[in-house]
Amino acid sequence: MKKVRKAVIPVAGLGTRFLPATKAIPKEMLTIVDRPTIQYIVEEVVASGIEEVILITSAGKSAIENHFDYNYELDTILKDKNKDALREELSLTSSLIDVVSVRQKEPLGLGHAIWMARKVVGDEPFLVLLGDDLVRSKVPCCRQMIDLYEKVNESVVAIQRVPMDQTCQYGIIEGKETDFERTFKVKQMVEKPAPGTSKSDMAIIGRYLLMPEIFKALGKTSPGHGGEIQLTDALQSLADQRGMYAYEFEGKRYDAGDKLGYLKAIIDIALDHPTLGEPLRDHLKFVCDGKNCLQ
Ligand code: G1P
Repeated sequence: MKKVRKAVIPVAGLGTRFLPATKAIPKEMLTIVDRPTIQYIVEEVVASGIEEVILITSAGKSAIENHFDYNYELDTILKDKNKDALREELSLTSSLIDVVSVRQKEPLGLGHAIWMARKVVGDEPFLVLLGDDLVRSKVPCCRQMIDLYEKVNESVVAIQRVPMDQTCQYGIIEGKETDFERTFKVKQMVEKPAPGTSKSDMAIIGRYLLMPEIFKALGKTSPGHGGEIQLTDALQSLADQRGMYAYEFEGKRYDAGDKLGYLKAIIDIALDHPTLGEPLRDHLKFVCDGKNCLQ
């Protein structure tokens, strides 16, 4: 069985849901408490034992690459000012993990973005993490998936149950229970089924562990939902060919690509922060008591 060593993170999207905030900065660089969103994703990857991150980028995304790079000028200024704690913090970010970038030259869909990684990934299983999906859990979500992969030696997609009226926003899977806890054998997958047509409430979230055969399947996938090359369509053909498992991960997922989901992530992460948690809790109580300072 091959080890999972690489993680692909597509970051080429425009971030239109956050305009005008994302007019000049990538949505992945929007801050959650004290770190950009993308850093939480990369930290999950690192905590799961992954050795290399492959970013699928587009024009205007160099801030993400710079964030994980060493900044000589900034380091020299901080050194001159004896700001050692800050230097240490920055060095932790730049030495987190090796980051490689591949450009997606045309916005042809998520499936196409992943296909762009084929030469860098090569012939080994790999992870895909979508930057909009933040997961907070005791054991990192990707680690939970790798643990299952090491038992089944097949692709694994992370899922969560969603209300039936929200199934049209996700890739939905139908599956059969297995002897492994929280694990289903995938039978059918549909990308964003029309409202009222879904038979299942099991939604794919942005965490996939894929066998390299997915690249062949992606190469043969025609545009699907929304006229884009959909990863879900290629997953279906991989599931038919050699099998795939859906795993109901343990933890809480935030849709940080949505304004409300993003705010919830900020609040929950801040509430657990060692110095911000308590004063924020006091402030929230104050607001909940109807004492909003603008009124
Ligand atoms: C993508 C996938 C979808 C998945 C979702 C999870 O959709 O295509 O299958 O359920 O991510 O966040 P998007 O939300 O990027 O349109």
